[in-house]
Amino acid sequence: MGARAVNARLRRGDPVDPDELRAFAKGLADGSVSDAQAGAFAMGVCLRGLGEEGRVILTEAMRDSGDVLRWDLPGPVIDKHSTGGLGDCVSLVLAPALAACGAFVPMISGRGLGHTGGTLDKMEAIPGVSAQISEEKLRQVVGEVGCAVVGATGRIAPADRRLYAVRDVTGTVESVDLITASILSKKLAAGLEALVLDVKCGSGAFMKSGDEALALARSLVTTANGAGCRTAALITDMDEPLAPALGNALEVGISMEVLSGNRDAAPRLHDLTVALAARALALTGEDEDAAAARVSDAIASGAAMERFARMVALLGGPPDMDADWRAHLKRAPVVGDVVAPADGVLTAWDGEALGLAVVAMGGGRQVETDRIDPAVGLSDVRPLGTRVARGEPVATAHAADEASAEAAAQAVQRALTLGEGFAGPDLVIGRVE
Ligand code: URA
Repeated sequence: MGARAVNARLRRGDPVDPDELRAFAKGLADGSVSDAQAGAFAMGVCLRGLGEEGRVILTEAMRDSGDVLRWDLPGPVIDKHSTGGLGDCVSLVLAPALAACGAFVPMISGRGLGHTGGTLDKMEAIPGVSAQISEEKLRQVVGEVGCAVVGATGRIAPADRRLYAVRDVTGTVESVDLITASILSKKLAAGLEALVLDVKCGSGAFMKSGDEALALARSLVTTANGAGCRTAALITDMDEPLAPALGNALEVGISMEVLSGNRDAAPRLHDLTVALAARALALTGEDEDAAAARVSDAIASGAAMERFARMVALLGGPPDMDADWRAHLKRAPVVGDVVAPADGVLTAWDGEALGLAVVAMGGGRQVETDRIDPAVGLSDVRPLGTRVARGEPVATAHAADEASAEAAAQAVQRALTLGEGFAGPDLVIGRVE
């Protein structure tokens, strides 16, 4: 009766009933709501919307459908979430940097989605790392190191797992209400005091336009604050990869460069990490400029690297990741340059096409059961605004075989636009408080 009533209200466009919505989320988690009812609900929300209050109720109900962690730690419990992009390895640098600044970061992460990479897949590119851990282990790692970048246990927001699977096959992923409740139910179940959101905008993001990104950022920020977690968002540029590397081991490698104090290896990755981490610390009461200076110091001094290496060791990875990371990361057998087909200035990357090229190389999944090859991908992807001559490299392909390297080279060439003159957007395009 309950699921029918929720769906009937949605069909009529009536306001949702909080108790019915809570019962519906519980029913998603315990299986008493059927797939048909869940599919009708997802379509109803897509077509009718939930409104601001309904979105908060659904988010809280999905958060409470499983375990909600509580912490008693000598520092703020905070986190960051990105809506997904290319070469976006901020989490690998930000979590240990925040830990080195005295915060605690239980970062529950996801796998690659569509053309975008996933933090969990990157962590698992480190040999031996097991990021799918119990709550007990999560508490141990966060308590000892200050951060844990891991996957969700089966008991975190089970209603979302169920609804997400139904959305995936019913064409109902693209709803701001459902995306908001899905992302936040998992993040808020980690028991956060504050959350900073990186809402990506551009050719490599799910939200291609500024208006779409702003709408999602506003929805996420109002809903998370409405659910009691201090939250702010930065809207950031994803018209080109954030770091010049795409692919799991390659992205770990570039993150290790930045954690080694080498900002120049990936300046946009470094600077966005600092901006997001400072915003997160500011949500806990710290001055944002002072926080940015502390985060930069934590990275430059090696303090963040030390935390990262301890986290990796506790998760089953090598004990000396900080000293010897190059030796630990798997390399692809075929490595070759992708060259510019003409003279010109790089004025655009089709980010989605670049991401899909990496998926096609085996660096992401075409179907859920695919195994990822951590070694493959692209490195040295030239930034927009670079002037190149015909035959000069614009990227380097790391492939499992020659055929795959050739296909990737063609895809990369198709993904670039050469022209004259270039003025790109700022890295941080906007802020939503
Ligand atoms: N990520 C999520 O976790 N859920 C969505 O709906 C979209 C992106």
